[in-house]
Amino acid sequence: MEKIIKPKKYDFSNVIGISEYQLKEHYKLYKGYVNKVNELLTLSNDSQDFKNSNPTYSKMRSVKLGESYALNGVKLHQLYFNNITSTPSAPKGLILKKIVTDFESLENFIEYFKEVGSSVRGWAILCIDPIDNKLHIYGSDTHDTGAMWLCYPLLIMDVYEHAYFIDFGTNKKAYMDEFFKNVNWNKVNLRLKKYFNLLQNNLFERQQEYLSFSNSFINF
Ligand SMILES: [Fe+2]
Repeated sequence: MEKIIKPKKYDFSNVIGISEYQLKEHYKLYKGYVNKVNELLTLSNDSQDFKNSNPTYSKMRSVKLGESYALNGVKLHQLYFNNITSTPSAPKGLILKKIVTDFESLENFIEYFKEVGSSVRGWAILCIDPIDNKLHIYGSDTHDTGAMWLCYPLLIMDVYEHAYFIDFGTNKKAYMDEFFKNVNWNKVNLRLKKYFNLLQNNLFERQQEYLSFSNSFINF
């Protein structure tokens, strides 16, 4: 079977407070999602192969449910591993200004983020939403629920039990505290900059560039 995407590599050696074993076991799950996405990408898009689709059970339903679960699993894990696996840096620059504007203070923002993490079973996600250009922290129980369309992801925290149970058992709060010690805010700032660049560029004038988009995934 031809592989269409490859798992990205991450250096877990610099992560503080979360063991390499925990992270490597977690990474295996991510690779499993990559494999499933590759399987899904090889499936036919011939409508004749998907006749009599049905929302209770059908071949197309199975494919679509698996697709959103696996592909969101890949994207979210890449964002998560990427924002914790490099030298941590303090919040500063544009993201800090935006946090203070939209959440009153950094302390309030971090506490709110962790409360979201405590309230869900899957992901806490900081996004900027073009509907109001404000920061929002969304929560979801699984990869394929709770997504807000067109939001741009900035900081992602995995709160599935598999992300912390080896090291922290049921102490999710301790895991979230360690997570924040590892955030590279330079990367969060870069993501925010990419969002503003997208807003500033006229996407319709750049349609040829988008039409030529092929096998590469956007690098978050
Ligand atoms: Fe995970």
